[in-house]
Amino acid sequence: MLSPKRTDRADVLVVAADEDLARSIEMTFGVSQHVDLEIVPGPLPAGLDPARVARATVAVVEVAAQDADQFIALERLIADTIDCPPVVAITDEFDQTIARRLMQIRVADCLQKPVSPSELARACARVARKPTASLREEEAQIFAFLPAVGGAGVTTLAVQAAMLLLHSGGKVKPATCLVDLDFQHGACADYLDVEPRLNLSEIEPQPERLDRQLLEVMLSYHASGLAVIAAPNCPAEMRSFDPRVVTRLLDLVSVNFDYVVFDMPRTWFSWTDNVLLGCNKLFIVGQPTVPGLRQTKQLVSAICERLDERVKPQVIINRFVQKLFAPGLRYSDLQRTIGEPLVSCIPNDYALVREAIDRGVTLEEVRPGNRITLQLRKLILPQEKQARGRAPLVGKRLRLSFARS
Ligand SMILES: Nc1ncnc2c1ncn2[C@@H]1O[C@H](COP(=O)(O)OP(=O)(O)O)[C@@H](O)[C@H]1O
Ligand SMILES: [Mg+2]
Repeated sequence: MLSPKRTDRADVLVVAADEDLARSIEMTFGVSQHVDLEIVPGPLPAGLDPARVARATVAVVEVAAQDADQFIALERLIADTIDCPPVVAITDEFDQTIARRLMQIRVADCLQKPVSPSELARACARVARKPTASLREEEAQIFAFLPAVGGAGVTTLAVQAAMLLLHSGGKVKPATCLVDLDFQHGACADYLDVEPRLNLSEIEPQPERLDRQLLEVMLSYHASGLAVIAAPNCPAEMRSFDPRVVTRLLDLVSVNFDYVVFDMPRTWFSWTDNVLLGCNKLFIVGQPTVPGLRQTKQLVSAICERLDERVKPQVIINRFVQKLFAPGLRYSDLQRTIGEPLVSCIPNDYALVREAIDRGVTLEEVRPGNRITLQLRKLILPQEKQARGRAPLVGKRLRLSFARS
């Protein structure tokens, strides 16, 4: 359905013993029309043909950190292959000794499990020898909004950010998908007035059934062309889905869209780490109150510690009121408390936000040039795109993304 935008193809050779890893790689590259993927069951077999390896654009090899033989086999393969492609190693552990050993072997990059698909795609695109454009094209730009406190405004900001991204491309709208991962109290579908169509219970018994066709059935489209993945709410049901289902869903979405925006729940689930590791920008949304700032700071530290600084959370303080001579927190207070991660303060404007939500439209449509959109635009869009995308959104019913084919 999705048409390849370019003709150059990347040849990705993978050696993996871990079946889950192999499956996840297959999901990342296997569905792509830009990539020829070959997965060889690991550990690295002695008889792997160096000529085959040499043809690859990039090789991805899983090595068990405690198995010296696997390191020797990888070293030999790289040494024996004339014109060896860059190798990305995936290990189950990582420390200085392993890092040194991999450097001696001359791998181009190393990732530690669990590896999110977009993290792997990024690593491959970074190291791959030409042509790399086809690999890079697989990379969606992924933004996640995570609440530090209840009612911080995550859904509001995620919806508006997705709309800004959708309209950031001038005439051609980039394929943009908003994914509501707050399965219990999701509000994206309500805010945009679309019917939620994701049925995770149907996918759960057989996650591998989830393919592009099924994904299409479970997508909803806003009149603007924004794709929305949202499940009907189950407020009385507190359940967590099999992380494989969620991971599979995210893999598919990141391969099929240019921009993906996640509305994250406050509760930490078994799949949360994976989502955060896979995103390009992680925004933590807090509120300008003393406890709000404290909880925001705590969440930033907890994430940095938990994910080994592999993601860099950025803090947005929402509903900020700037009053020069009135009591309340000032911008300098926020800066002092949050420090470097503070990237933006979004103004408080309840009348504007409420009207947009009630009508299922963007803030820009309600009041063009409003200050909330202005701040978000600075945060989300690269400089050259910030002036664009102010067209009214009414009445444009476009089937995007999947209609790109
Ligand atoms: N910048 C803002 N100014 C005024 N009201 C806001 C702003 N952002 C969000 N709100 C309001 O705050 C409430 C919670 O927003 P919501 O996006 O649903 O938060 P969350 O998803 O974090 O629970 C809603 O009533 C919304 O209208
Ligand atoms: Mg919400």
